[in-house]
Amino acid sequence: MNKKIKIALIFGTRPEAIKMCPLVKTLKENNSFDVSTIVTAQHRQMLDSVLELFEITPDFDLNLMKPNQNLWELSSDILLKTKEIFEKEKFDLVLVHGDTTTAGISALSAFYSRTKIGHVEAGLRTFDKDYPFPEEINRVLVDSVSDLMFCPTDRAIQNIKNSGIKKGYYKTGNTVIDALLYVVDNKPFNLDFIGLNDNLKTILLTSHRRENFGKPLENICFAIKELVEKNKDIEIIYPMHLNPNVRNTVIPILQNTERVKLIEPLDYAPFCTLMKKSHIILTDSGGVQEEAPALGKPVLVLREETERPEAIEYGGVKLVGTNKGKIVNTVQELLDNKNEYERMSKAINPYGDGHACEYIEKIILEYFH
Ligand code: UD1
Ligand code: UDP
Repeated sequence: MNKKIKIALIFGTRPEAIKMCPLVKTLKENNSFDVSTIVTAQHRQMLDSVLELFEITPDFDLNLMKPNQNLWELSSDILLKTKEIFEKEKFDLVLVHGDTTTAGISALSAFYSRTKIGHVEAGLRTFDKDYPFPEEINRVLVDSVSDLMFCPTDRAIQNIKNSGIKKGYYKTGNTVIDALLYVVDNKPFNLDFIGLNDNLKTILLTSHRRENFGKPLENICFAIKELVEKNKDIEIIYPMHLNPNVRNTVIPILQNTERVKLIEPLDYAPFCTLMKKSHIILTDSGGVQEEAPALGKPVLVLREETERPEAIEYGGVKLVGTNKGKIVNTVQELLDNKNEYERMSKAINPYGDGHACEYIEKIILEYFH
């Protein structure tokens, strides 16, 4: 019998978990693989809720999150802890996801231990090192040390080629669509606990990006205030990220604002149900930019740059930035202009067909045989 291919999937934050858990499940079902799950726990509660949803118990839990952690300490902790595991376990392949500190530093660590590396969600770029910070540089780093690059779109493939990498890239779609379809089909959720008003249009808001801390996030909050004052038929739901840099800005401005609900981060199943129920989604999240077009929901992106321009080209997403007036005007147009709303909701989802995990599984098998 052939030796099993020894694979580790390593992740640490909520979005990585959402996009890697379906892959853990797919690879574990294949007898050719010996699969280990390593979590850095760069996030704790927000990670655990995803692990629970997908019923995954990590084989290694580094438990690294500290309150209001910084990039330096987190990076050195990840580097040293993964060194121990990689040296002992001698994996044939380490899979990392996306662009977080967990992704960037784990890939570097695997590279130092001369292990093959696969990058899930490879090839995304803004070509601006400050947007998003520090994620753009993490992505470049991971792709530059990877042997296999699983790209969600043609654009991502092109970015890899343009950077001079000559082999190892494949178009697979994004595993987030696999996760979304699994949850929407299998884990529908009752949202009564949020207390939505059925007579109002729900606008869903998420914002947590580092480069939006401070003034840009304040602008977003003041835009929200103006929008609910002008439009008595809308309510805003903001599941706030647990990062204190988000909450310390948002809560003082938006608490006690009529028809604005500041709530705790939602588990993934209720969040998917809330996206489905929403009229418009305002976000600076990467994952939400990919999911909402698959659900036919118009998305306004509260960032100056995006590494996910495909959905803008397809028409379901608009890049709005963080200028208060621009946010108010763009939302108002979508509320008032039925044709524009219809156009955006009917746009095609460019991020995959829900089978990305199977494509990745097949590529790994072919690579090792
Ligand atoms: C990280 C990623 C970002 C990703 C985001 C997803 C980096 C540099 N940033 O940003 O790319 O978009 O995750 O959400 O990797 N916290 C908790 N509990 C949790 C999660 C976070 O209390 O479950 C608080 C802690 O105080 C923690 C802080 O949030 O120290 C910041 O977490 P961190 O992972 O450093 O940054 P994020 O802003 O979450
Ligand atoms: N999400 C969630 N609960 C929430 C907000 C977001 O489950 O309250 C999900 C969302 O559907 C998406 C992912 O978290 O799949 C995005 O994570 P986040 O915005 O934190 O990070 P990013 O994608 O920007 O890196």
